[in-house]
This record gives sequence, C-alpha cells and structure tokens, in this order.
Amino acid sequence: MRTVAIVGATGAVGAEFGRVLERRRFPADRYVLLASRRSAGTSVEWLGRRETVRELTAELLRGVDLALFSAGASISREYAPAAAAAGTLVVDNSSAFRMDSGVPLVVPEVNPQAADAHRGIIANPNCSTIIMAVPLWPLHRANRVRRVVVSTYQAVSGAGARAMEELRTQTADVLAGRPPRREVFAHPCAFNVFSHNSAVGPDGLNLEETKLVAETRRIFDDPEFAVAPTCMRVPVLRAHLENLTIEFSRPIDEHAVREILAAAPGVCVVDDRAANHFPMPIEASGRDEVLVGRIRSDPTIPERRGIQLTCCGDQLLKGAALNAVQIAELVLARR
Ligand code: A2P
Repeated sequence: MRTVAIVGATGAVGAEFGRVLERRRFPADRYVLLASRRSAGTSVEWLGRRETVRELTAELLRGVDLALFSAGASISREYAPAAAAAGTLVVDNSSAFRMDSGVPLVVPEVNPQAADAHRGIIANPNCSTIIMAVPLWPLHRANRVRRVVVSTYQAVSGAGARAMEELRTQTADVLAGRPPRREVFAHPCAFNVFSHNSAVGPDGLNLEETKLVAETRRIFDDPEFAVAPTCMRVPVLRAHLENLTIEFSRPIDEHAVREILAAAPGVCVVDDRAANHFPMPIEASGRDEVLVGRIRSDPTIPERRGIQLTCCGDQLLKGAALNAVQIAELVLARR
C-alpha cells in the first residue's frame, strides 16, 4: 500500500533511514531510492538487499505516499512543495522549511500535537536542537526554564558522509606523519576542535547557534525562550555532546532533575559518579535515546535554581533519521 521515497539515499542520513525503517518494521511496500545524477545506477544496501539508486526527478516522486528528504535545503525547496501538493507526505530533514509558519517543526517527545497542522510538509529540526530539546522539555514542564547556556561538541556526521570520510582519512594521515588534506572543512578536524563551520552573522552567532535558538523557541512554542549557545566541531564521528547550564524559575535539586529525566521519553540517565561514567559519544552512537548525566547543582545561580548537566545523542539517529521516521509514524498513527 505504501510507497516511500528516500531523497538522498546515498548520504549519511539516507543510509541510516534504511536501518531505522527496517528496525522499526515501518509499514512500507516499496521504496524508491533517489540521489543525484552522480549516483544514478549505483546500488546501496537496503533492508538486507542491494537496491538501485535513481536520479531524483519530480516524475519519480509522483504517487509516493511518504518522502523522507535529506539531500540539502535547495533540493527540498525545489522538490518538496510540488510533491506535498500532489498528496505526498514530506518529512524534511533540511533547514528549508523549519522557520516556515505553515510547516510544523516536530520532536515527537516534545510537541507531537504540532504535526496535526501539517499541509503536506513536516520539518525535522536541526540535530543539536533535537538532542537538547528531548531532555530539556520535561524539565521545563516541571519548573519553567528561564535561561539555558549550552556548549555543543558536535560530530562531523552533521556535515555529511564526506565529512565522516574526511575525519577518517585525516586521522590516518596525521598518524602516518602526512599533512591532513582538507576538502569539506576549512580547518583540520582530526586532532582538533573548531568553531562550527557554518557562517557567522553580524550578531557574532554562527548559523548553527542561530538555529539552536530559533528552533527551540518554535518547538517549545515560546518565542522568548532564552538560549545562549556556543557550537563547536570535535573529532567525533556521529554523536553530539552538549553541556547545559540551566536556570529554572523555582528552586530545584539534582535528585528531582534525575527523577524527571529517568521518567522522560527518549532519555537514558547515565550518571555514575563513583565510576566517573557519564554520557559519551562512543556510547551514544547507534542508540536511539539521548544519554543524560553529570547532573549537579550550579551554586552560582541564586536560590538553588541552577542545574548543570551533559547530554549526548546520535546525530544520525535521534538528530536526523530516527526523529524523521518517528514523525512519519506519528502522522500515520493519527490518520
Ligand atoms: P549523491 O551521493 O548522489 O551526491 P550527505 O549529507 O551525506 O552529504 O548526503 C547528501 C545526499 O544528498 C546524498 O545522497 C546525495 O546524493 C544527495 N544529493 C546531493 N545533491 C543532490 C541532487 N542535486 N539531487 C539529488 N540528490 C542529491
């Protein structure tokens, strides 16, 4: 009954879509795998078989029930509106429509009801936004958050499959005593940390930081929600780590925070002080949940209203493919 198109099937998120759809036994009868002309005729591993990739055209999107887009904002702008107008449900992983008031921006654990208002397109938020929103939302609901200071340590997967390859080859190059070759990032990513590779605006925030602020406000439906972000790239393959300092409205202690998070959907508390074991990209990779730990009071915020914590989530899963598939499941369940 259901034909599902993957736009960007050869990309890092595209490959993850296949694994997530298989693992969640998504009810599809047929997949149409699409990418650029460069990949036309090549094959990819898809639900245990080799499947041929075709060049994306409007024609091939015709009659598709669900299209999962992850091929960049310009491709989404070019193809998604017409597909939606023809009756395809589009879940778009790009930034093309995230700030469009006619397009819901959805994290199923936070604002599932927003999906109901869709007119054919639903936007999947930015990865660092999703990974912060999942643990922050239940805390905000229990005790209104006045302000969050967040520092991200972002994996290279957010910049695509070529960026992941760049980290691997640069690491090998450096270990072999060769200079690291740069193609995707302006700066070496192996053995280095640098400010997020998106453009810096006149306010001094880079685009990733601007997205983190604006998208959190939309998802929380709070245009004033205060976020002070610093976004960095670290030499990690596929999971983002984020350190949060949270100022609440009322006093809160670490035990209450741990209890709220232990019961929160999509969260796994990893907070073992004795073993010095806290959220790490190496353990968040391949997992659906956002790991949260290092939960402690921040005594520099008055009236016991401050908490610091670390969260970490797989950028390709909860930060991208998994959240998009959950959105599609949500819409199907509500039909
Ligand atoms: P291709 O592999 O043919 O370039 P990533 O985010 O990992 O870089 O992946 C981007 C995805 O978007 C890839 O599947 C890529 O296909 C696809 N893509 C890039 N440009 C186009 C295009 N012009 N038309 C369709 N798909 C595209």
